[in-house]
This record gives sequence, C-alpha cells and structure tokens, in this order.
Amino acid sequence: MPLLEDGLIDHVIQPLRSGKEADLFIVETSQGVRCAKVYKEARSRGFRQAVLYQEGRAVRNSRRDRAMANKSRFGRHEREEVWQNAEVSALFTLADAGVRVPKPYLCVDGVLLMELIVDDAGDPAPRLSDLVFTEDEAATIHAALMRDVARMLCADIVHGDLSEYNVLLDRAGPVIIDLPQHLSAVANNSAAAFFVRDIDHLATFFGRFAPKLATSDYGREMWALYQARALGPETPLTGTYHPETTAPDIAAVLREIDAARREEEQRRARLAAQAETGSVE
Ligand SMILES: Nc1ncnc2c1ncn2[C@@H]1O[C@H](COP(=O)(O)OP(=O)(O)O)[C@@H](O)[C@H]1O
Ligand SMILES: [Mg+2]
Repeated sequence: MPLLEDGLIDHVIQPLRSGKEADLFIVETSQGVRCAKVYKEARSRGFRQAVLYQEGRAVRNSRRDRAMANKSRFGRHEREEVWQNAEVSALFTLADAGVRVPKPYLCVDGVLLMELIVDDAGDPAPRLSDLVFTEDEAATIHAALMRDVARMLCADIVHGDLSEYNVLLDRAGPVIIDLPQHLSAVANNSAAAFFVRDIDHLATFFGRFAPKLATSDYGREMWALYQARALGPETPLTGTYHPETTAPDIAAVLREIDAARREEEQRRARLAAQAETGSVE
C-alpha cells in the first residue's frame, strides 16, 4: 500500500509466490514490470536465526547498536530494517561483482523492488527445483554456479541458504536469489560451515542428473583457495579437496625423544665419572 500511495508501484499484476520469509508479487511500475518482495514480520521469522546470521555484519551506528542490543520495540524494528537492508545491499554488491542476481531497484517500508527474472515465454523463471536436466545441462549450470559462488566469496559474501529452491534459470543461465541471511566470509566464524553446506546442497541436487557431481567437494576446495588468497572467478577448480592427510610419524618422534634422553644420560654419566676421578677435561 505505501508503495502504491507513493506511486512507486502503479498496480499489482499478480501474486507470484508466498515464501517462508516474504510474499512476492509481480508489479507494474512506470519503469516497467518488477518483482516486489514484501517481507513478513520479523517475529514470525524465527529471530534466533537472524541473530546468528548477523554476527560480524557491520552495523556502523552506535545508536543502532544499542537499540539492537536491547529488547525495546525500537530495537526490534531496527533489527528488522537491518535484515531487509541486508538483502538489498548484498544484491547491489553482487550485481557489481558480476554475479547473476536480480537487479535491485529500491527497498522501502519492508518492500524490495527488483528485476523480475523471466523464462523464454516472459513468465516468471522456474527454480532449479522445478526442472530436470540432462547430464550435460547439469554440468554446465553447475559450473556456472561455481563461478558465481567464487565471485561471491571474493566479494566477502556467503549465501547461507543456497539450494535448488533459491536459484532461478533464465535463458542466460542460473540466477541466485533470496539473500537476506547472507553472511560475511571474513567476519563470521560460521562462514566456512555455511559455505560448504551451500555448495553441498547444489552437489546433491545436480548429482541426481550428473552422478559425479554428487561426490564433488567444490566447497572445501574453494574455501581452501579463498583462505590462501588464491581464489578468483576464473581459478580452475577440480571438485576435489586434498587436505594435508599424511599422519605424523609418531614412531620417528618417539625415536628422537629416546635418542635425546640417551644422549643426556650419557652426558650425566660422563660428568659423574669425571667428578669421581677428579679429572677435568
Ligand atoms: N526476482 C525474481 N524474479 C522471479 N521470481 C522470483 C524473484 N524473486 C523471487 N522469485 C520467486 O519467489 C520465490 C520466493 O522468493 P525468495 O526470495 O526465495 O523468498 P523466500 O525467503 O520466501 O524463499 C522464489 O522461489 C521464486 O520462485
Ligand atoms: Mg527462497
């Protein structure tokens, strides 16, 4: 309603989908057709989870920090704003980084206006979960997603809820959506675990069509490269991860300790013998 009253939306064409976090609509604006994401109230969204995800996310405003720390109504309102703005800011960052996401336009009063991703017929694009693929198609789309995920990681963003339900497919390939819960790769201690889980979801999904993807380990491989500052969108990936697995040679360590002990015993015996004979070396 506020967007209609302000003329940001001309009219609602049709409801698109009611998700767990938001209701989506196809709307007409003076600039053309858009997708409007209307967020549900924070309290119906499971607030504990939101806090975990926000760890490490910069909120550079001390009044806000204090409000968010206490349990006032204002505090809850502010947390809600941060959550909603998190999706818009991630969309802007990712669009800039060359990741295929819906182009964001604005976010006001709990409504995000973004590009409507469409299929060849101009209808809202399907999710990966709505489709079946040949082995080759699965491999191609998966590879495109791995490149986009590498770009995301380079932009310090881990999706946090990536799966076949949050990727749309249009003529040019996969488009990643639904980012309010994204987390900072650098600042959030859980980022590696979320990242690997995200990638594993995609491996499981695409593994149904391309079996070798089911056992791939792009998540750990990319995270290791990222930590070594060796990850870019064009970095060749193998889908395997070989951590340093050579077990320490405990027997050799024990032999070294024994040798040192024997050497020390011999030294003491020598000193004792010298003391007895009174000889000085
Ligand atoms: N920009 C978009 N273009 C086309 N369809 C979209 C767009 N954004 C979301 N959708 C559709 O709405 C559904 C729910 O949106 P999503 O952002 O995933 O919210 P939720 O948190 O409710 O899952 C998606 O699965 C997708 O089908
Ligand atoms: Mg979703």
